[in-house]
Order: sequence, then C-alpha cells, then structure tokens
Amino acid sequence: MDVSGIDQLAEPAESEVLAHLRATCPVSRTPSGAWFLARNADVLAATKDVHTFRASFREPGVVVPDEEQLINEIPEPRHGEVRKVINSAIAAHKITRVEGFCRELSNELLNDLLSRDGAIDLVHDYVMPIPNNVIAELLGAKREDFNKWATWSDEVVQGTWPTQNRNERGEGLAGAHPEFTAYVDELIRERKVTPKDDFITRLINTEIDGRRLTDIETRTQLVFLFISGNETTRHLISNLLWTIVNNPDIERALRDNPDLINNAIEESLRHDPPVKVLMRNCEQETTVHGESMCPRDKVAFGILSANRDEELYENPHEFRLDRPNPRNHLGFGGGPHVCPGAALARLEARVAVEEFLRRVEHCEVFEPGVYDEVPVFWARGPAHLKVRLTPHKV
Ligand code: HEM
Repeated sequence: MDVSGIDQLAEPAESEVLAHLRATCPVSRTPSGAWFLARNADVLAATKDVHTFRASFREPGVVVPDEEQLINEIPEPRHGEVRKVINSAIAAHKITRVEGFCRELSNELLNDLLSRDGAIDLVHDYVMPIPNNVIAELLGAKREDFNKWATWSDEVVQGTWPTQNRNERGEGLAGAHPEFTAYVDELIRERKVTPKDDFITRLINTEIDGRRLTDIETRTQLVFLFISGNETTRHLISNLLWTIVNNPDIERALRDNPDLINNAIEESLRHDPPVKVLMRNCEQETTVHGESMCPRDKVAFGILSANRDEELYENPHEFRLDRPNPRNHLGFGGGPHVCPGAALARLEARVAVEEFLRRVEHCEVFEPGVYDEVPVFWARGPAHLKVRLTPHKV
C-alpha cells in the first residue's frame, strides 16, 4: 500500500505564501513589523544564536528578578546551568514511568466516549485532558487536585502574568497567582522534609557543577514546565488524530503496523508543528540575507515554513510515513532552548494514538477534511474534531 503521498494541507494559501517567501524573500516583515525568517537553515542558525535572538514573553521594559525568569528567557551562561539541572532531573526520573498512567487515562476517557451514541469532539473530550493530567501526575500533584492545576494553568495562560509580570491581584508569579504558587511551594516544602521517589524531589536534589536550583527557581520552572507541556502536546495529539481519521490509507497503515506510529508522530511534528512560530527580541545588530536587524526588533522564526522547506524535504506538503530521517524537523525548536519535554510529548502522543486505534473500530468524521485551526497566532492545531465512534467488539 502506498501511504506516502497524502496531502492534508487545509489552507493552501498559507503554504503558498510560505513557499513564495522561502524562494524569493527569506527575510520579510510581518504586518505587525516583526522580521520573519522563512528558510530552515536560517531558522536553525537563529535558534543557536542566543546572544543575538532572545526569547521573552515580557512586554518591553518589564524586568524581573533572576530567580523569577522563565527558562526560555534566561541569558547564557545561567540558562545552561539551569537547563543542566532540569535535563538531569528529567533523565534520572525516566519519563516512561508515566506510561501506565497515560494508558489508563486514555482508556477511561475512551470508555466514556465509546458508551455515547451521538457526536463527540475528539479534541475536547479525548485529547485535552491527557497532557494536563499526565504532567500533573509527573510533577507529583495529588490526583484530587488535578482539576485545580488545570484551572490555574488556564488562568496563567489567559492572564497578564508573565507579559506585564502582574495582574489585578498582584505582582510576580506569587502575587498574580497566589493559590498556584502556594500549592507548588508546599509540594517543594514537603519533599524537602520527606524526599519521595518523584520528579520534584529529583529537581530539588540535583546538583550540577556545584549548582542547585533555589526554591524560587524551582517553583518558577515547575510552573513553566506545567504550562509549556499543555497546549503544545494537545495540538500534537489533535493533529495526529485529525490526520488519521481523515486519511484512511494512513489509518490502515498504522493499524497494520503500529511501529509506524512513531514515524507518524515525527511527521506530524514536521508537517503540523504545534508551535508554528517562535518569537524573539533582537539583542544586538545583525544582518540576515542583507537585511539589518537592530536591538529591540521583533523576530519571528517560521517553524512551519522551515519544516516545509523544499531544500530539505522531498514533496514537503505530503504527509509521509517513510521519510528517511523522521526526527529531522524543528517541531521542538533547536539550539540550547530545544524542548526538554520532547520525550514526554512523544510518549503521550504514542499512547493516545495506540489506545484510540485499539479501542475504536470505526470513526465517522462529521466534516471530512475541514481543518478548523485554533485562533492562536503561534499555534497549529484543530480547535474541534467532531466524530462518531464505533467500538471494537471484544
Ligand atoms: C508536542 C509538544 C511540544 C512541542 C511542539 C513543544 C515545542 C517546544 C519548542 C518549539 C520549544 C523551543 C522554544 C524556544 O526556543 O523559544 C520548546 C521549549 C520548551 N518546552 Fe516544549 N514542546 C512540547 C512539549 C513540552 C512538554 C510536554 C514540556 C514539559 C514537560 C515542555 C517544556 C518546554 C520548556 C520548559 C521549554 C523551554 C526550554 C528552554 O528555554 O531551555 N514542552 N518546546
């Protein structure tokens, strides 16, 4: 069966514009005045040039104490020190220990969905609870508190911290989101008194080159880890399911050979990167393809565009399960800030798809081929996926 040539692009206009930019204008200006890098080689080089291009969610002029800087905005060499501690704690903790929890959760959700007669929204009813609960489990929250974490995370995403470093309630993370902060501080305090076999204990106790995280650094990065893994992983799983239920050849290939699910995950990250644009502030003068960028200029790294670069990928708009180097994409970014949660995201996506294919015999899609993208400028994922499911008979 040939599963190599399926084009799922729902908005050819965007893909044509990006192809045109890559071919004729690799550095352009967006309508809001930011520079836009379209080619893979330029985006990859820029992710590595952290002295010139610095990430920040803050509005210009908002300065926060070092300990309250989120990992993505910490300048080198401090970023490298904090990253080493986080990487080491993640490696030591072994992400696969949440696999059983993730599988159980997927099945609980499917039990409910498969008992329903009418339409369900796969994004809302199946996908959304997965990243949120899995990361709460990983970070050691009590199960009865998972919903609180989800609520606090939504409050942060919708609020004005960190952009203004405050909201109507107060300043800094502790002032703007006091319940969330108090909860995380208590988790840290408990582990200091009674260490556990869990991720927070590892994060607290990891020492690299004589450096440990302070309590405030630990709290700041835990909150950030929780939030960064939520919406991104949701879009990865939603994109994968969208592709599967809209492309019978892909669905059949994955059912016949579940090992191909790993290739499907990488191809989804390439074809539909959940983070399709990364924003940076220019910190020092630089020139890219003859265009001069100055300090305070905004620069957008076109991840979606880079992942469709014809210099690197044959037929880049096709979703193929047989790409030679499936992990060769910028879906998790690049350079020193490359995503530390990649292994967790891959695990969640694999388990969610495996269980979906195992439990669901047939999936009727209400609006085949309609990709209703979330209205978030940096994100790529369907807002809804309305289907009716038929269970496998056991
Ligand atoms: C499919 C899911 C995910 C995608 C597509 C994704 C994508 C990315 C990208 C593109 C970056 C680079 C950001 C930049 O350079 O400014 C990044 C960084 C980051 N991601 Fe992920 N991510 C995902 C899942 C996760 C998960 C599950 C976690 C947490 C467990 C996580 C935590 C982080 C953190 C903390 C950073 C900042 C790292 C640093 O600045 O050193 N991500 N992610």
